[in-house]
Amino acid sequence: MPVTWILGIETSCDETSASVVRDGRFVVSNVVASQIAIHRQYGGVVPEVASRQHLEKITYVVEKALNDAGLGFNDLDGIAVTVGPGLIGALLVGVAAAKAYSYALRIPLIPVHHLEAHLYANFLAHKELAPPLICLVVSGGHTSLILLKNHLEYEILGATRDDAAGEAFDKIARVLGLPYPGGPALEELAREGDPQAVHFPRAWLGKDSLEFSFSGLKTAVLNYLKNNCEEGKESFLPDVAASFQAAVIEVLVEKTIMAAKKSGVPDVCLAGGVAANSTLRELFKQKAGQEGLRFYFPDKILCTDNAAMVACAGYYHYLAGDFAPLTQEACANHPL
Ligand code: KG4
Ligand code: ZN
Repeated sequence: MPVTWILGIETSCDETSASVVRDGRFVVSNVVASQIAIHRQYGGVVPEVASRQHLEKITYVVEKALNDAGLGFNDLDGIAVTVGPGLIGALLVGVAAAKAYSYALRIPLIPVHHLEAHLYANFLAHKELAPPLICLVVSGGHTSLILLKNHLEYEILGATRDDAAGEAFDKIARVLGLPYPGGPALEELAREGDPQAVHFPRAWLGKDSLEFSFSGLKTAVLNYLKNNCEEGKESFLPDVAASFQAAVIEVLVEKTIMAAKKSGVPDVCLAGGVAANSTLRELFKQKAGQEGLRFYFPDKILCTDNAAMVACAGYYHYLAGDFAPLTQEACANHPL
């Protein structure tokens, strides 16, 4: 059997990443140039700054990914790239680079959706995994429960009506005075707190609902802080962080398990930046295990934005012959 080498490119937000994946399932190299230190001084991602950084780093990360893999450009079989959703200026850099490589090397250009890339990170981490499966994709831009019926065949079972879970983590982290990115910093602070100290509301949205909502929780935390925050009383902040985190995670885990039961699918996965959260991973493991479900999540490095997951999803598009013409555009609001 000939080996298939796919180069993945990811520039949808604030990580410039390139990766080589062999036969869709083996990460041979994965280079991530993070812009965290740059955006931290502004308290969040500045889209224009992100685009410029991608432009500076893109050729470097691609060449390093090939070097790390011990390959040359001519060894590649296809170029997979995130075409959306994401920050338009940021996406454009990756898409333009991928088009140039595809044209120069005369190999297929493979468009990948950012959510499917996150979901496919599970296939890199677990070689035995196969559809059908349920995946909760939970990131800074999305909170979606997806049924993967067959490779590349998706059904959205539920999504957020307002904020994404990662967005809620980032906003609450900011009001707690934590640095960007908020999720990991809030998780760190929550380690010192009691998750039962404050009972924040859980938005179940009806008994059988697979939709999410985090705006009410966000407001409840802001009100709690306003009413209880006094100079010198900062010691209660770890309790607020832990209680907020518990409220988000409980809903995420319960609804994921409900989706698996409703669909009769025994394999459940997590994906996306928030899936790097250890408390979420632990509760998911515990609850899914109790329900007799098989549970999966990628290594933390494959949860946050990276190009290996793009190359993995790209491989399945490659097998299906889903190639894009050189007129392919970046799309900020790309439907799955
Ligand atoms: O998937 P990702 O890297 O980018 C998007 O597609 O949005 O996810 C980034 C999001 C941010 O909101 C970040 O705060 C959150 O994932 N995140 C976390 C953790 N690590 C990253 N949230 C909670 N706990 C974490 N450990
Ligand atoms: Zn992402």
